[in-house]
Amino acid sequence: MSTIEQTSKALHAPIKNKYSSMANDEAIVSASSAEAHDRSRSHVWYKPGEQLRLTPYTLNLFQNYSQIPTEQVAAHIIGVREKAWEVYPYPCIGSFRFLDFAITESPIFTTALSKLKSGGKYLDLGCCFAQDLRALVYAGIPSENLFGADLQSGFIDLSYELFKDGETLKSTFFKGDIFDFSTFTPIRGNTSDPGLFQKIKGDIDIISARSFLHLFSPEQEFKAACQIVEILKDSPGSIIMGRQVGSFTPGVESISLGRREVFRHDPQTWEELWNKVGEATNTKWDVQAKLLELSPDVKDSVKAAELADIETRGWLEFVITKL
Ligand SMILES: C[S@@+](CC[C@H](N)C(=O)[O-])C[C@H]1O[C@@H](n2cnc3c(N)ncnc32)[C@H](O)[C@@H]1O
Repeated sequence: MSTIEQTSKALHAPIKNKYSSMANDEAIVSASSAEAHDRSRSHVWYKPGEQLRLTPYTLNLFQNYSQIPTEQVAAHIIGVREKAWEVYPYPCIGSFRFLDFAITESPIFTTALSKLKSGGKYLDLGCCFAQDLRALVYAGIPSENLFGADLQSGFIDLSYELFKDGETLKSTFFKGDIFDFSTFTPIRGNTSDPGLFQKIKGDIDIISARSFLHLFSPEQEFKAACQIVEILKDSPGSIIMGRQVGSFTPGVESISLGRREVFRHDPQTWEELWNKVGEATNTKWDVQAKLLELSPDVKDSVKAAELADIETRGWLEFVITKL
């Protein structure tokens, strides 16, 4: 069975109540506009430190990759989270969702590992703490082949503080705005070549765009997707992957963060978007996506944020493969 067939099989499998608690933070983005950019600790999506729960995988990674003694892990994470909240109060920061290593749950995790083990390059776009990049290194991928990029250099700096890998990680991180490639500047890792991004642009085998495109208005989303196509290697089998907020009743929604309108996709509208991107960029894509339901406890907590349409929300998981 080909990789695409395997991916297709995995993504088209019925949603067997595979609840995703990961959608919690993103789902509450729509809280009232008065909360936009609110860094207060009483914010609706800011979880107090006592509510931090670590999965065995997360604890293990902080113990073994970051070499943090078990009893210090929680306090360490909470301390760095406080600083990140000041950089920008994203829901994934307030509700500790940066501790979800989603790539390890992706239907193509194994495929991704083998591509990267044989020298493929990976870019974590809108990486923030770049936790999935660290999961790849923890899984044995050479860190030189892994890149991260974010608008906010503060998040990139804090990612080193969070994972305590400033001495070991050989990945390169760019500060940059997806809408303007000329802004991409290497700020950690191989910083000796200011033109490095231009050299790797068009040579990336896997781009992770996790909780990224859903930040933008429909027009920006389309533009950003076309930019992603330019960064990706122009070869069959190159992959764009990720998860973002979706909806069982797709459509435009106003969000408080940045006060803008975004489009919440289901698998069909997501495929339509990528067909348009394909037309505009003269490329063809196999688009696999499915909506994961929110767990009942997540729905309850989001209801507390008075989100009327929470019942229709889901977490859109996708793998887009170049044909
Ligand atoms: C919601 S966070 C998701 C972070 C991470 N991908 C994850 O899933 O945990 C979105 C990230 O995209 C970055 N970002 C927002 N606009 C951007 C832009 N125009 N260009 C590059 N990065 C951007 C933000 O700084 C932030 O770190």
